[in-house]
Amino acid sequence: MTQKRFSNQTAIVTGAGEGIGYAVARQFCAEGANVLLNDIIPERAQSAAAAIGSETGASCVPVAGDVADLDTVRGLARAAVTEFGRLDICVCNAGLTSWGNFFDYRPEDFERVVNVNLRGSYFLAQAAARQFREGGSGGRIVLMSSVTGHQAVPYLSAYGMTKAALEMLARNLVLELSPHGITINCVAPGAVLTPRNLEDDPDYERRWGDLIPVGKAIRSEDIAEAVLFLASPAAEKITGQALVVDGGWTKTSPIPDMSYGSDYQN
Ligand SMILES: NC(=O)c1ccc[n+]([C@@H]2O[C@H](COP(=O)([O-])OP(=O)(O)OC[C@H]3O[C@@H](n4cnc5c(N)ncnc54)[C@H](O)[C@@H]3O)[C@@H](O)[C@H]2O)c1
Repeated sequence: MTQKRFSNQTAIVTGAGEGIGYAVARQFCAEGANVLLNDIIPERAQSAAAAIGSETGASCVPVAGDVADLDTVRGLARAAVTEFGRLDICVCNAGLTSWGNFFDYRPEDFERVVNVNLRGSYFLAQAAARQFREGGSGGRIVLMSSVTGHQAVPYLSAYGMTKAALEMLARNLVLELSPHGITINCVAPGAVLTPRNLEDDPDYERRWGDLIPVGKAIRSEDIAEAVLFLASPAAEKITGQALVVDGGWTKTSPIPDMSYGSDYQN
């Protein structure tokens, strides 16, 4: 029997109860990894982990909690060792898409998006890196960025800022992490067909498909493929990078009508 790409490895995936994180967790399990699946909604973490476990036959363990909370992210790194004896991969995927026009954007929304997207990713990466250093076998960190960290998209000023900051974090940390055999990279998705996007805009697929050079919106599975590549042995020499998965959108960046984001209540 051929060995699967991630056999005997353990991965953390945050914000994985649905959407991109779910596809990432599912693909890791399908390729042999044990996964700690985090979501802020406990029932969602439970049902997602159960569905992935029964579909793939792999171990997928739910861990509920808010990534903005230090105990949650530190607990995730500890749980990897308690449950599976090791940690190899950490995907800081959970992120809050915080809409609102700049003129009315509220401090409490700013704090929440910074706490989830930046503080959550920063301290989870730190907890994972400490565990990788202790384990002595290196490790892989993948941060979830966005094309909004590369190009202006209306009503996503604070959100886009957090995503650009994550990419700088990856570039900065090559200095401190590389000596420990740890790589750190970002995946920057374009417009992805997730349940949340389809709820915000039922016409999302057509609206974005018309504007994206490849002619279709991105699927969560496309993002999962990029994450798994960066976590795989094939990407051993790739670090400090951002892999944009957007069907070519950032090369032209046409914006659809996004007026619904202007007075959005986060
Ligand atoms: N969907 C897109 O089009 C798109 C595009 C670019 C980047 N991204 C980024 O990809 C990542 C995943 O996006 P998505 O659209 O799949 O997410 P989403 O908004 O659909 O949420 C996915 C899951 O994360 C959970 N979650 C939300 N906040 C959390 C928190 N604080 N702690 C733990 N879990 C939490 C939710 O309950 C949900 O089940 C995010 O970082 C997002 O910014 C998404």
